Amino acid sequence: MRLDKYLSQATGLPRSLTKRQIKCKNVEVNGEVNQDQGYQVKAGDEVQMEGRILPPPGPKYLMLNKPQGTVCATEDAEHPTVIDLLDLPNIKGLHPAGRLDIDTTGLVLLTDDGQWSHRVTSPKQLCDKTYLVTTADPIPETVIAQFAEGLELRNEDKPTLPSELEILDSHTARVTLHEGRYHQVKRMFAATGNKVTALHREKVGSITLDPELEPGEYRFLTTDEIKTI
Ligand code: URA
Repeated sequence: MRLDKYLSQATGLPRSLTKRQIKCKNVEVNGEVNQDQGYQVKAGDEVQMEGRILPPPGPKYLMLNKPQGTVCATEDAEHPTVIDLLDLPNIKGLHPAGRLDIDTTGLVLLTDDGQWSHRVTSPKQLCDKTYLVTTADPIPETVIAQFAEGLELRNEDKPTLPSELEILDSHTARVTLHEGRYHQVKRMFAATGNKVTALHREKVGSITLDPELEPGEYRFLTTDEIKTI
């Protein structure tokens, strides 16, 4: 697609204005100023206008490193949302695919593709989630078997599905869940008599949080990452 048309579709501006932006050297492709209105934008090109990355037209898929204090919602009267962290045009319909608690940090996937987010969150799809957990008390070895067998949670009829727990040091563990219940990690540790003091999501399905992303930063998913869900 021509560069001026790409900009127009990505921002909603008329072609006359996107052409002017190109002329005024406000447009970069892959980090270089591009003044060619007819440049054919290829898959994988990163287009920026006035310093803002403009994703290709079509559904959007992002990963965000959620900082503490933000909520996984599109609107909230009291707290900043994960959507508030995005400096992107045309983000109508963009929503977090799943939720983390306000104090949980780490990987949040965002999209405007409802079917894709359903596959991330639907219990039937078994999209694994991996967390790094810090606890108030030491984690005994016996907890590994408790997680593997399934735990009875307060106010729930069914025990949790078998999950994997790897002890990293006395107060830290990596946990992989194959389901997503309300406050599940915290409630599972509570059921073992311990308390979670910090929780960080590292992975959803086979998508791992990019180590380059500082808290609050985000990037578009690659085509391969999108396809894994
Ligand atoms: N489990 C929790 O307890 N909290 C989260 O944010 C995610 C999983």
